[in-house]
Amino acid sequence: MLFLLAFSFKDCCFSAMNDDSPSLKAAYALSSVDDNRRLYAAWAKDYDREFAGDMDYILPQHVARLFVDYGGKGPVLDVGAGTGLLGQLLYDYCEPIDALDLSQEMLHAAAQKNVYRHLDAVDVTVPIDQLGRRYDGIVSSGTFTHGHVGPDAIDNLFALARDGALFCLSINKNHWSEKDFGAKFESLRSKIVDLTLVDVPIYGANAVGPNRDDVGVIAMFRKSVITPAS
Ligand SMILES: C[S@@+](CC[C@H](N)C(=O)[O-])C[C@H]1O[C@@H](n2cnc3c(N)ncnc32)[C@H](O)[C@@H]1O
Repeated sequence: MLFLLAFSFKDCCFSAMNDDSPSLKAAYALSSVDDNRRLYAAWAKDYDREFAGDMDYILPQHVARLFVDYGGKGPVLDVGAGTGLLGQLLYDYCEPIDALDLSQEMLHAAAQKNVYRHLDAVDVTVPIDQLGRRYDGIVSSGTFTHGHVGPDAIDNLFALARDGALFCLSINKNHWSEKDFGAKFESLRSKIVDLTLVDVPIYGANAVGPNRDDVGVIAMFRKSVITPAS
């Protein structure tokens, strides 16, 4: 799995952002669904270069590595897939992979990576019944970050998971505390098994700025298998 961690965006060029540009600071300050839609629509084209490249963003590598190491398999749903950085890393290991994101523009960028089977513009903060598909793996990197995607979105993902499905979700550590993800996992105790929490750095050694040392919690767990009463 070493290659996953070695994958980097160093070949991308670096560029300065002005105050009107979409930026990490702006993304962390988002609080509503509409704000998110607007910011990511503007950011989609340059996200890989300006954000992932400049910040040495390594969170998708950690999520991919842990999902594969813990035996994750397809079909997989990538939640808040963005431009498809996580799908690109998983593609050689599991298939099919579907992408779900609020932003049609981010999905358009993801589609160009040719790793996703279906790409759907969906809001994970409300119940999702339009997909008509269920998954053995549910992954997410960078979507449970700040603002509006809180712990209750996990309930909406649950309905999309098959019994025994492996979840591998990154949650920004500050967001974890602010929104009390601990209480959510406590409330899910009868519905999940094998909960494992792993702290990982979100950004690599070449990251710059005040967020360069931010930490993500990766929550891995399986949806319990319900056995029919005899
Ligand atoms: C920081 S980006 C992460 C993208 C990608 N997973 C990655 O690691 O590069 C957050 C993504 O979550 C999506 N998002 C934000 N709110 C959402 C919501 N309510 N439902 C679905 N996707 C959402 C955004 O459109 C954006 O693509």
